[in-house]
Amino acid sequence: MATNLRIAAAGVEPLILERWSPRAFDGSPIPIEDIQTIFDAARWAPSAFNSQPWRFVYARRGGEDWARFLDLLLPFNRSWADRAGLLVFILSDTLIQGPTATEPAPSHSHSFDAGAAWALLALQATRLGYHAHGMTGLDFDRTRKELAVPDRFRIEAAAAIGRIGDKSVLPEALQAREAPSGRKSVVEFSFEGALPADAR
Ligand SMILES: Cc1cc2nc3c(=O)[nH]c(=O)nc-3n(C[C@H](O)[C@H](O)[C@H](O)COP(=O)(O)O)c2cc1C
Repeated sequence: MATNLRIAAAGVEPLILERWSPRAFDGSPIPIEDIQTIFDAARWAPSAFNSQPWRFVYARRGGEDWARFLDLLLPFNRSWADRAGLLVFILSDTLIQGPTATEPAPSHSHSFDAGAAWALLALQATRLGYHAHGMTGLDFDRTRKELAVPDRFRIEAAAAIGRIGDKSVLPEALQAREAPSGRKSVVEFSFEGALPADAR
């Protein structure tokens, strides 16, 4: 499993620090059993009323959908994501039917819930020795048409998943950025009692 130099407080689960978003993938396919495990992890995310509003539409490297899915990414993302093993579009159901409701109603948390599922999926991919790289650099209008996504579903993002490769496959500018990034400190985003007056 890849390691990296991200530093966190003692006690943070190492798998969380192992996850990062490379662009240099090695072009290998992902066995179907691993794909199933990756999606199964997403299944266990929490969601409002256990509504599980996430949907994943995917194409496997070498499969008949690959070129069609790749073409929905913006050119920058296409340039590196074409060496991934799996392309996943992440959708969420904007309608929810609560336990006592008779009709579906707008959901407050469909994106929040799908984000939780994506995070578990990314961590499971990491555990299996892959990396998952999220993307919103895609053509949302064409994605809706091409993947026949009904209006009630929000297209949240896409993700490229694969085995990390040598960064020499990337253009020089991207090679320089091919490293795990840092983070804000905890005191910059967590506040006891209230947001500070100068919160932006
Ligand atoms: C919703 C979302 C959209 C993103 N869109 C893109 C993208 O279009 N292209 C890209 O190269 N990276 C994209 N990223 C990757 C982020 O830049 C990356 O997650 C962030 O810099 C933190 O780095 P890390 O994931 O390596 O920890 C996206 C990530 C997320 C979660």
